[in-house]
Amino acid sequence: MSILIDGKATSQAKREALTQEVAAFREETGCQPALAVVMVGDNPASAVYVRNKHTACESVGMYTETLHLPEQTTEQELLALVEQLNQDARFHGILVQLPLPKHINETKVLDAISPDKDVDAFHPYNVGALVTGRERFLPCTPAGIMELLRFYGISVKGKNCVVIGRSNIVGKPMAMLLLAQDGTVSICHSKTNNLRQITQQADILVAAVGRPRFVTADMVKEGAVVIDVGINRLDDGKLCGDVDFDTVAPKAYAITPVPGGVGPMTITMLLYNTLTAAKLAVSGK
Ligand code: GUN
Repeated sequence: MSILIDGKATSQAKREALTQEVAAFREETGCQPALAVVMVGDNPASAVYVRNKHTACESVGMYTETLHLPEQTTEQELLALVEQLNQDARFHGILVQLPLPKHINETKVLDAISPDKDVDAFHPYNVGALVTGRERFLPCTPAGIMELLRFYGISVKGKNCVVIGRSNIVGKPMAMLLLAQDGTVSICHSKTNNLRQITQQADILVAAVGRPRFVTADMVKEGAVVIDVGINRLDDGKLCGDVDFDTVAPKAYAITPVPGGVGPMTITMLLYNTLTAAKLAVSGK
């Protein structure tokens, strides 16, 4: 029987530790870490994520505000709000929930967030810092996966790590974090030839493709660690990952479920980044 990597339990343990850390930080500095979350429009999935972020912040003793703007908000208006939040010393972290409505240039907005408040670690300054090993904020989903591996005693050193998906949010930073821990990393994507031959070599396989049950048992090596980043909603309303869990799980040494695997860790790492941002603000660095 493979090990079920429980993101909910791991996340809970980490949030309890973080609650203590936040309390100690507030006691020492008088500063309450604070996060501004900006949401534009009414994407139902985003509304759920934003609500979860709000609840999570409060649960560990942080201050948070959700700024909900209408769908018709212009790019200029959003950029003006970001600039206002950059200047607002009450907030240490800023998160603009993606996706944004089509008429707004996402890159432009993300680049406008101060690198010191960039708790998503999406700004090119923070991406560059990550690639060169000088990171302050870690990208939340990949960092959550690294925490899960650590929590379950899974070493990356020398392992064949295969990441399917090359997004800026998950695939690319995931590869960087695995590399930083001495993994041998391949990034695969929709144009990769012989994908199955590559994934079959993986000791650690990370699926971040956004296609339901894309990774099937024949693509996975016996005894591999399988991390599923996908959250896909099926026609019947149920959630499923990028991995065909039922057939892959028996082959895997360890595997994350969907839901309850990677997802809960993403928000927990956001909370850590918010504390880091508050520490940066207090230290003036
Ligand atoms: N939408 C889906 N995932 C994310 C994330 O990690 N950060 C932001 N800002 N938006 C998202």
